[in-house]
Amino acid sequence: MNNRIETELPDSRKHRAKAKRYLWSLVFSWTLLLVALLSWDFISIQSNMEALALKAARANFNKDQAFRHWAAGHGGVYVPATESTPPNPHLTHLPERDIRTPSGRALTLMNPAYMVRQLNEEYAEWFGVQGHITSTKVLRPGNEPDQWERLALASFERGEKEVVAFSEIDGEPYLRLMQPMITKQRCLKCHGFQGYQVGDVRGGVSVSIPLATYLQQRNATLLRDGVSLGTLWLLGIIGMLVVSRRLERDEIQRREAERLLRRANEDLDQYAQIASHQLQEPLRLITSYTQLLRQRYQHRLGKDADDYIRYAVSGTARMQQLIEDLLRYSRLGSKQPRLLPTDSRLVADQVCDELAEEIREKGTEVKLGQMPIVPIEPQHLAILFRYLLENALKFHAEHPLVIRIECRQEKNGFHFMVRDNGIGIDPAYHQRIFRLFGQLHGDEAFPGTGIGLAHCRKLVELYRGRIWVESSLGAGAIFHFTLPPAAA
Ligand code: HEC
Repeated sequence: MNNRIETELPDSRKHRAKAKRYLWSLVFSWTLLLVALLSWDFISIQSNMEALALKAARANFNKDQAFRHWAAGHGGVYVPATESTPPNPHLTHLPERDIRTPSGRALTLMNPAYMVRQLNEEYAEWFGVQGHITSTKVLRPGNEPDQWERLALASFERGEKEVVAFSEIDGEPYLRLMQPMITKQRCLKCHGFQGYQVGDVRGGVSVSIPLATYLQQRNATLLRDGVSLGTLWLLGIIGMLVVSRRLERDEIQRREAERLLRRANEDLDQYAQIASHQLQEPLRLITSYTQLLRQRYQHRLGKDADDYIRYAVSGTARMQQLIEDLLRYSRLGSKQPRLLPTDSRLVADQVCDELAEEIREKGTEVKLGQMPIVPIEPQHLAILFRYLLENALKFHAEHPLVIRIECRQEKNGFHFMVRDNGIGIDPAYHQRIFRLFGQLHGDEAFPGTGIGLAHCRKLVELYRGRIWVESSLGAGAIFHFTLPPAAA
């Protein structure tokens, strides 16, 4: 018993290692899935934020442009000259830069760039947005482009219509957007003297959106999503561990039950075999001595003694048969059957030959219908045919017996039918006859050991098939059995 337990161990260890590998691959896939989800989430949040910032930049840019065009459309606007809005020194070439109202108030001309610059400078805090008008050839020192703007202006010269970028100003993150300003006729009033012509790139306007608040919001959303996905991940992992632990426990129990069952079966078979072998020895003794008794004392001890001796002899013969059948029955199923392609017609013909004497004796007719090639060991099919034919021959009725064997190939395998016109079987016994010693007629008229049909059932079930009978008293019987298809 000890060595059997030892042989069990590596098997279950292998199983546990396999289960563990399976669990790890599940955990890995789950983690991968959530990481992918989180990355996808991050990407979509990021692009969402960028789209929002860009929208804000465009809105601001357009507002500035609108102001500028409005002012340029009017050729600039006159405002009261004050300390914070002194006359623009760069407009001295215009004769009407400074004028006086009839009442004597001094007005000065404000050019579009000046106006928007002042707006941006004084109200930048309101907007949180930096607007800047600049060019490579500034009219006013202080309008010079920074490094990023210089590159953008260069690309406008090459025909670019807009430049957008996420970059930094003084170490702070910004979204920057810049478009060129093209020289129009109305611009020449003040910029013509610089040598510009209509269509030239006069300069550019940029807006810069501070991204700090956007980034804050992005990070908050990301954190929230990260925490929920992380929780989900954790719950998934816990669930997997719990389920796997439970499955493992069930598996161990199942294996243990299987092992016990297998051992019980082995013990039973062993017992049957040993018992049969052991019984054979004394039986042989009894048989030889009763035969001796008959040889020596027949007709000498009177009619009663002759009868007794005859009973004893036939009893031992039956016992001999019983033991052989039992042995064959218990040996069956000790190894996996092979699914050999077997010509069922050939096997049926052989069995009929073997039983030719009995068949002829009773004037029986055996007809074979369709008999295909089936996946079964030939000697097993022979046993089935033999027991079923013997059964039919045994239970014939008064009229001549006709037995018909055929096999249909069906969707889920092969379906054999052995049909006779014998005495039939009461439906009440349709189950019982397939049990060991389940025979209905134990008397002299129907000799048999009561193992045949049980043997058939064990055989068919070995192939994962099914066996059953269809019959009623006096109406003959059809024994059905099925075999799974070859590929199974
Ligand atoms: C009323 C006069 C006037 C008109 C009209 C005018 N500008 Fe200007 N512009 C100026 C002055 C003056 C400056 C420089 C001082 C400043 O920044 O206010 C300037 C500055 C600029 C700048 C900034 C870079 C630099 O050179 O200092 C650009 C770009 C510009 N103008 C483009 C235009 C375009 C394009 C038009 C036509 C749509 C136009 N301006 C119409 C007077 C004018």
